[in-house]
Amino acid sequence: MRLNASVALCLLTSAANALPQPQQPAATATLPSEPASDTAAASSQLDELSKYAQSLANSSLTSSKRAACNIANVAIRREWGSLSNKERKAYTDAVLCLQAKKARYPTSIFPGVRSRFDDFVGTHINQTTFIHYTGTFLAWHRYFTYEYEQSLRNECGYTGYQPYWDWSKTAASGLTKSPILDGSQFSMSGDGEFVSGKGNVVLGGNGLPDLPLPPGSGGGCVKSGPFKDMKVNLGPVALALTDGTTVSNGDGLGYNPRCLKRDLTDAINQRFANASSVVSLILKNKNIYDFQMVMQGIPGSGSIGVHGGGHYAMGGDPGRDVFTSPGDPLFYLHHGMIDRTWWIWQLLDQKERTGAKGISGTGTFLNTPPSANTTLETPIDLGLAAGTVVKMKDLMSTTAGPFCYIYL
Ligand SMILES: *[C@@H]1O[C@H](CO)[C@@H](O)[C@H](O)[C@H]1NC(C)=O
Ligand SMILES: *[C@@H]1O[C@H](CO)[C@@H](O)[C@H](O)[C@H]1NC(C)=O
Ligand SMILES: *[C@@H]1O[C@H](CO)[C@@H](O)[C@H](O)[C@H]1NC(C)=O
Ligand SMILES: *[C@@H]1O[C@H](CO)[C@@H](O)[C@H](O)[C@H]1NC(C)=O
Repeated sequence: MRLNASVALCLLTSAANALPQPQQPAATATLPSEPASDTAAASSQLDELSKYAQSLANSSLTSSKRAACNIANVAIRREWGSLSNKERKAYTDAVLCLQAKKARYPTSIFPGVRSRFDDFVGTHINQTTFIHYTGTFLAWHRYFTYEYEQSLRNECGYTGYQPYWDWSKTAASGLTKSPILDGSQFSMSGDGEFVSGKGNVVLGGNGLPDLPLPPGSGGGCVKSGPFKDMKVNLGPVALALTDGTTVSNGDGLGYNPRCLKRDLTDAINQRFANASSVVSLILKNKNIYDFQMVMQGIPGSGSIGVHGGGHYAMGGDPGRDVFTSPGDPLFYLHHGMIDRTWWIWQLLDQKERTGAKGISGTGTFLNTPPSANTTLETPIDLGLAAGTVVKMKDLMSTTAGPFCYIYL
């Protein structure tokens, strides 16, 4: 049985008319509990989970226009493929605008930064080891993506919201056949130019077993679509190459202009970020520790999770560099989906998963070197890139704190 439209509509209407609002609709029993291994079946399970999350998020919003976040002003983030060509172009135009705007970071702090877009890349590079495999991973990237969206809106006149890349759709269609990456003027640009004779990318190291990942269908500079002329100015710091080695340019904050490279890799998308991977991640992991570890890939397990799946499916430079990855504008659509996946998971047990029990981990990469546990009071600071210093507790809900958005 599925959560049908009338149940959802009923939730929405009753929420709009009455306070207090219903918290756990009776529809819970109709949700999938076991992830389907068949990707088509899993795909409709993901739709059901998404609709359920929407109905709960909607029912927690009041119709009172006096409330800071209400049913009339809630921002709606949508999947790239469901945007019109005009909306897609408005988004990429705004990104190009950010890439043409003067940086806030002086070169005395981050020498390689050349634009507002780079302010975000520099901040991510500088904080990489404090925001991955930490207690802040999901919330930090939620805030980062939100502030990027706000900069597009407030500094570049964009009137839409942050779109996302649903990996389960590209796993089914093929990356270069998707509206996000088909290379047209209404895409996020496509693959890099084909480079022959590539070997595997090899992850692992540091005492972990090698994890070879296949190369993709490009490898060279992106030559079509809105970002064909863009310059990547920062990095790399730990860029995995297709000869099994890794290259770096010091701390990655120096000026190192080069083309945007991609190496779109369907095999990686399909293996780590198909519809079953997403549904299984959401349904099988009941606490935040397991959820965020499986999402990022448990080191040594042979899995890079949906998070790694999206990044390495992009491939190229800076796509295969954890530090510099926001240097590819597709990063923000990927992290839109990461955030959406967390959002769906949180709404399945809202009270538990948006509070103190929704946080696990410390302030350092796999707690190395050891550091204090992340708590609701831990500050999150994006430096000069954007925003004010906020606390973890401000970032746990997309509708209850400073944020006001949902995902369709
Ligand atoms: C939630 O609200 C949004 C915005 O009004 C609407 O587009 C969406 O269909 C609603 N979803 C559900 C499941 O009620
Ligand atoms: C889907 O992803 C899971 C890992 O999340 C993997 O085990 C499975 O083999 C993948 N399915 C297909 C059809 O590739
Ligand atoms: C930090 O978190 C771990 C794991 O949840 C817990 O065992 C430990 O007691 C916590 N440390 C402090 C100082 O609260
Ligand atoms: C870089 O990151 C460190 C550690 O989070 C922080 O203390 C420092 O202020 C950051 N530098 C800049 C310029 O933002």
